[in-house]
Amino acid sequence: MKALILSGGTGTRLWPLTYTWAKQLLPIANKPILVHIIEKVVRAGIKDIGIIVGDTHKEIEAEVGNGSRWEVDIKYIHQSSPLGLAHAVKTAQPYIQDNDFLMILGDNLLEMELHTVMDFFYSSSSNACILLHKVSNPSEYGIAEIDGTSVKRLVEKPKQYMGDLAVIGVYVFDKAIFPAIEEIRPSFRGELEITDAIQRLIECGARVSYQLTSGWWKDTGSPQDMLEANRLVLSGITDTSEYAACNISTSAAGLPGEHSISLINSVINEPIAIAEGVKITDSVIGPYVSVGREVTVEKCVIENSIIMEGTRLENIKGTVSNSLIGKNVIIRGSLKDTGSPSFIIGDKGKIDM
Ligand code: G1P
Repeated sequence: MKALILSGGTGTRLWPLTYTWAKQLLPIANKPILVHIIEKVVRAGIKDIGIIVGDTHKEIEAEVGNGSRWEVDIKYIHQSSPLGLAHAVKTAQPYIQDNDFLMILGDNLLEMELHTVMDFFYSSSSNACILLHKVSNPSEYGIAEIDGTSVKRLVEKPKQYMGDLAVIGVYVFDKAIFPAIEEIRPSFRGELEITDAIQRLIECGARVSYQLTSGWWKDTGSPQDMLEANRLVLSGITDTSEYAACNISTSAAGLPGEHSISLINSVINEPIAIAEGVKITDSVIGPYVSVGREVTVEKCVIENSIIMEGTRLENIKGTVSNSLIGKNVIIRGSLKDTGSPSFIIGDKGKIDM
């Protein structure tokens, strides 16, 4: 089985962070969202991964490379314009050929592992198997009507309530999906919808099965979603070796050795992630904070935030919370101000307070 990861979208809801960066490369627990997904696909045992890319292909290719670091083969497939998920699949047909394939959206994170859906695809002799998750806002998703172990009907963003089981962007297909895509037309939003192609499969008598997700699922499309995903991922980290200094709960430490992290007169409230080259002085960090490489924090209290590499925060009065701070930002307070500031600032921003 091959995998297809869709990474072509633009991320307008994450402006200004996505002015300068592909949304799939934004960090959750100090690791790009796309890398979290690739590692999940690799854990499922897939060795051939195609990544659909658009305008941001250069930065994605530079960050991810050819897959050798995971001992898999990664190929990039260029989608000329974002004309829908089914259009992306059609674009990837020369790469997929006759293989079965797992498709996953490059900005969705989920707790469960992927082999369950792959195993069910085979054991139920399905032409397609999709993952479903109960949601409270069904009009924003593709929604499935089920009967026993089969999907009976699928509608993209239904205007009338038809259930609350959302298609979450994890699909396993065999080659029957390609002719189904040829038979659909662009939707109300001008896109070739994969939901419509799967509905076409059902109408043609194909077997479409499903699995319900276990654990959490998060579409990381907005700043609040990013912060929640960061909380969820940090809460689940058991192997802290990847997140150097996670376990250090100290009021005075300068970490020697390879990690070159300096914690001076500071308190860490786990869970947090701290990358290399970070310097934290006279501060309280956490819970739920990811601190990127070469970040400097001095005299600040920070919780529930993502601070990206190269940023410098000093003397901020109050607790910095619910904040998404881009790369190489400078925020310098005077400690005389009052209130609890909340920041969503793009790369290279600068605030002198
Ligand atoms: C896409 C799919 C939709 C699915 C959703 C999951 O929607 O079209 O069926 O439920 O992803 O995130 P979009 O994010 O393009 O609105």
